[in-house]
Amino acid sequence: MNNRRDFLRSSAVLGGVLLFSPANSGARSLERSNLNNNEEKKTRVLGKGSQALKVSTLGLGCMGMSYHRSFVPDKKAMIALLRKAPDLGVTYFDTAEAYGPLINEELVGEAVAPFRKDIIIATKFGFKNGKPAEGLDSRPEQIRAVVEHSLRSLKTDYIDLLYQHRVDPKIPVEDVAGTVKDLIREGKVKHFGMSEAGVDNIRKAQAVQPLTALQSEYSLMTREPEKDVIKLCEELGIGFVPYSPLSRGMISGYLNERSKYNPNNDNRPSLPRYHAKNVIANWPLIDVLKEFGDQRGLTVAQVALAWLLAQKPFIVPIPGTTKLAHLQENMGAAGYEFASGELEALTGKLDQIKIVGERYVGQSAEQTKK
Ligand SMILES: NC(=O)c1ccc[n+]([C@@H]2O[C@H](COP(=O)([O-])OP(=O)(O)OC[C@H]3O[C@@H](n4cnc5c(N)ncnc54)[C@H](OP(=O)(O)O)[C@@H]3O)[C@@H](O)[C@H]2O)c1
Repeated sequence: MNNRRDFLRSSAVLGGVLLFSPANSGARSLERSNLNNNEEKKTRVLGKGSQALKVSTLGLGCMGMSYHRSFVPDKKAMIALLRKAPDLGVTYFDTAEAYGPLINEELVGEAVAPFRKDIIIATKFGFKNGKPAEGLDSRPEQIRAVVEHSLRSLKTDYIDLLYQHRVDPKIPVEDVAGTVKDLIREGKVKHFGMSEAGVDNIRKAQAVQPLTALQSEYSLMTREPEKDVIKLCEELGIGFVPYSPLSRGMISGYLNERSKYNPNNDNRPSLPRYHAKNVIANWPLIDVLKEFGDQRGLTVAQVALAWLLAQKPFIVPIPGTTKLAHLQENMGAAGYEFASGELEALTGKLDQIKIVGERYVGQSAEQTKK
């Protein structure tokens, strides 16, 4: 299996070289055909020192295989996709107690069991009964109970990266970090992360248990983290993991104002950004990405992911998908290198587009203001 996997990885890398080498740039093509150079492009490091964690340049968001993306695909198909993912270079798998709830961890655990030791599993705690609608719960005893449950669901005896899903204002963040520190000491957890935490809480937590990663929404439709948290991550040596990097599928051209969602298993109908009039108003973003990609053999999603990767070397986006073709496409974005001036010119055009429609409303919005 390893030989086959190595072969497939090399093929994927070579595929990337052919796909992304500009025809008029012989020297750069030769340089890029060096497998060692490409090997470096396939991984990134989240966190520093004893908190450092080597992961694939893009991770795989597993949430949509069970939760919040309208349909729930056949389990066998998702297990096959998850087992194929390492062949495409994926080593970081992102799940949470809340996805399902509970069933997404079970799916991931079953799928990765044959190669568990070779990959990184990230999961999250922090909601009452694992259900975001019921509110937050990061009491230390609850964190411990969730971790025990996650370990069983994931069929493993350690969690590589454990995130607090949302800051719980009732529990001092130092107590949360202290509980995770104890779990690390006990060997049940290897690294600590937070999701959608603000600068003050990140600093307070970092003083107790240094973080490996901050996971927050970041995409070409949600650039708020550029204001302060990405800068703080750089200062403190914390990795940054953009979730919903394709804005829940919108930054691909695959969705449009006529797209239909299942409101019983999808948060998009409740989010203004996915309402038809806002989708139309935001379409110039897709136009700019498409124009850039059309000239370079890239899809809209690939340009969007390559742009995120180009912002900082400690950024590891985790696009979610239920399709092998989309996974291949998304992983291919890591092979694109912006030529001198190209990124700045693209960013200049993107900066002129005003995105309309809030990303969250109500309780979800409140939970991200921490
Ligand atoms: N920490 C948090 O609070 C939080 C919140 C939300 C999500 N997350 C994590 O982030 C991961 C990703 O977020 P997300 O699923 O919300 O958003 P996303 O990755 O921006 O978008 C996923 C959607 O895009 C579609 N898609 C993916 N690649 C595509 C491509 N190349 N072309 C066209 N469509 C494509 C997928 O549909 P198909 O299945 O049809 O490809 C899916 O519906 C989740 O799985 C989860 O692990 C974390």
